[in-house]
Amino acid sequence: MKSTITGWGKCVPDNVVTNDDMATFIDTSDEWIQQRTGIKERRFSHVNNSDMASVAGLRAIATAGLQPEDIDVVILATCTPDSIVPSAASHVQKKMGCVNAIVYDVNAACAGFLYAMQQAKAFIESGIYKNAVVIGSEHITWLLDWSDRNTAVLFGDGAGAMVVQESNDESEGEIYSFKNGLSSDKLAILEVPNFGSAMNRFTPYAAAETTWTFDGQEIFKNGIRAMGNASEEAIAASGLTKEDIDLLIPHQANLRIVEGLERNLKLPNAKTLKYVHKYGNTSAASIPTAFVDGIEDGSIKGGETMVITAVGAGLAWGAAAIKLGQRVTPLGETDAALPEFDGTGVDVIQESIDYFVHGKKEIQ
Ligand SMILES: CC(C)(COP(=O)(O)OP(=O)(O)OC[C@H]1O[C@@H](n2cnc3c(N)ncnc32)[C@H](O)[C@@H]1OP(=O)(O)O)[C@@H](O)C(=O)NCCC(=O)NCCS
Repeated sequence: MKSTITGWGKCVPDNVVTNDDMATFIDTSDEWIQQRTGIKERRFSHVNNSDMASVAGLRAIATAGLQPEDIDVVILATCTPDSIVPSAASHVQKKMGCVNAIVYDVNAACAGFLYAMQQAKAFIESGIYKNAVVIGSEHITWLLDWSDRNTAVLFGDGAGAMVVQESNDESEGEIYSFKNGLSSDKLAILEVPNFGSAMNRFTPYAAAETTWTFDGQEIFKNGIRAMGNASEEAIAASGLTKEDIDLLIPHQANLRIVEGLERNLKLPNAKTLKYVHKYGNTSAASIPTAFVDGIEDGSIKGGETMVITAVGAGLAWGAAAIKLGQRVTPLGETDAALPEFDGTGVDVIQESIDYFVHGKKEIQ
């Protein structure tokens, strides 16, 4: 049995925060951020991760022409779940009405969507389940330290989702192959240490003290290498050659990383999707949201062969080679949407700014 992508959907909050907005509370500038990262703006979420995930998931289910109760499994890739007990995916099951689905979270940081898609492929091709929804969703601004300009300017919130089902013939496409892995010798270059059960809960403001260990240049170098190697191995495992690849959708962390990967990987016929300027790094959400943007703006055509690849904390990394079906039009629609927020993007994090920028004493 073969598997393929039959549905797709995304959900990004309306609250746009530009680089100039960031410079109102961080010592940074639009020029620095654009030059070093390519990012122009990002979104801050006024709702929980599971709210974004649910809207993206429902849009993907509609696109596939399915109903929520048709879904057998929902896999939520995230490193910023609403809760640990239960999983954020449990909230997503409830909000989407996927009453017949098993659901769980997968945390492989920015590479989580690759890990989750590989599991979906295995579920479908083994015949265990027929209809899988894979969601990458992050409320990563919740985890940021707004006093650290090295990291605070890089990230944004959002969610993207895909439906995976059986493929019956070549015109329906095929998820060919994966190469996923993790290099824990590089664990220390990207960490939010002491958050989770290692944290001393009784330290005042323990949950706010999310100091990031972040060696930007090491992540940069290792990230390009890991995504390049994983992509080459995924292409080789699919039986294709680099010439066969029409599209490259890399993790949207930084434009310079994307361009470095393009130069190293050398896919002669592939166009690379680049949306980091709109959203910043949305971690596990970045590949599925880029996919949806690519379909919506016509960059992705039916029947194309693509490589998706990501790297993140761990260092977790992965790549997949995928042939899309001929259909890139939705079979159905939904009116699922986020509630509106009455304020600016910066208003969403005002309490955090009070804490990090103006000092704890402001928080009562
Ligand atoms: C973070 C990153 C953009 C920094 O770019 P860089 O060219 O390596 O810049 P450096 O770290 O050398 O910093 C250069 C200077 O800019 C300063 N700087 C850092 N952040 C800044 C900001 N937001 N605004 C203005 N200046 C900033 C630094 O303090 C440093 O100043 P100094 O030379 O006076 O000490 C880059 O390393 C990167 O993108 N790494 C990958 C990060 C990533 O994507 N991680 C997630 C992967 S999942």
